[in-house]
Amino acid sequence: MKILSIETSCDETAIALVEVSISNSSIHTHIIQSELFSQIDIHKEFGGVFPVVAKREHAIHLPLLLEKILKQQTLTSKKASSETFQEIETILSREQGLFEKIQILLETYGAPDIDMIAVTQGPGLEPALWVGISFAKSLSLAWGIPLIGTNHMKGHIFSVLLNQTNVEFPALALLISGGHTELVEMNSISDFTIIGKTKDDAIGESYDKVARMLGLEYPGGPKIAELASQARQSGLGSDSISFPRPMIHTKDLDFSFSGLKTAALYKIREFEFLEDKTKMHIAHEFEEAVIDVILHKLKKALTQKTYRTLIISGGVIANSYLRNRIQNLANTLTTPLLLPNISDSTDNAQMIAVAGAIESIDKKPSINPSILAEGNLSY
Ligand code: KG4
Ligand code: ZN
Repeated sequence: MKILSIETSCDETAIALVEVSISNSSIHTHIIQSELFSQIDIHKEFGGVFPVVAKREHAIHLPLLLEKILKQQTLTSKKASSETFQEIETILSREQGLFEKIQILLETYGAPDIDMIAVTQGPGLEPALWVGISFAKSLSLAWGIPLIGTNHMKGHIFSVLLNQTNVEFPALALLISGGHTELVEMNSISDFTIIGKTKDDAIGESYDKVARMLGLEYPGGPKIAELASQARQSGLGSDSISFPRPMIHTKDLDFSFSGLKTAALYKIREFEFLEDKTKMHIAHEFEEAVIDVILHKLKKALTQKTYRTLIISGGVIANSYLRNRIQNLANTLTTPLLLPNISDSTDNAQMIAVAGAIESIDKKPSINPSILAEGNLSY
């Protein structure tokens, strides 16, 4: 099955073309083309993602990314009729300027040879999600290709199938991204139960907030990781900086990171001027605290039940030090660990194609279906 997938849930505009074949025992994926425009440089100025700006940028970049794909693929001569264009104009009535751009694209190029379109339906920023959904509906209608709304978190979970061919059940997935920190038990490809989650900030969010306090640019995850790594390399340690490991000893599988953020804030306030060395110490201690908690809760979850696969995914798993620590833990376990490639860890469209293919087993895709953006979509 060849899938065109579209992701616009936050600040990455992404479109991919992915071949997915599902058999009883395995799932094979092949990324034919993947295009991504990161809005990070635009949001940096605001210190975080502004939904209205994200929406505007998605509307600018979706047609540009699609054109890159259409230019490289073999196309059929299928063209939309004038009645179809009228319907598309209605679908895009809230997306200023997008109809004109799509119309030019559809008149210039034929249709790609695809079986399905998958678009992120949620969770995410609703104004941002809507642009992707309306764009996907327009293409579905113009080309007569079935469309499916896909769950972004399932996309992160199944991102591991971009470099692996099998998930054995029951599986345990730890999702660590900018908006989510949750442990999910999966008893089949379509059976998800959240068994633990953050009570306040998500891990990526707390990286970003502490980074901001340290005067580092958005998104702060990679910046903190870099400072922490410098601290490790230079053998720096500081006895005067130590942060709590929130909820590490609670019996449940829940997390809390807002106290850690507050501890970092109080520490930062002790300094009149933050030297680079101090920033390195704080970043290092923050990262150690976060990782200690993650590993502890993972171990706890793994003692409560026998899982046949452990998946860790979401943007924060792009962190190489965390990957090493988790790999070390996995070497002591019998449960096989699956991690996405670093390049598939943060938001992308290829993971949406894989999740769309899997979701289409239970939820039939159709041409121009009614899909509502759901900011808080759960499993
Ligand atoms: O999955 P993702 O791309 O978007 C959401 O669905 O939220 O995750 C983005 C989050 C951001 O908070 C970012 O700071 C964090 O992932 N992140 C990292 C690293 N790379 C991205 N956090 C720690 N270390 C990294 N190397
Ligand atoms: Zn994400």
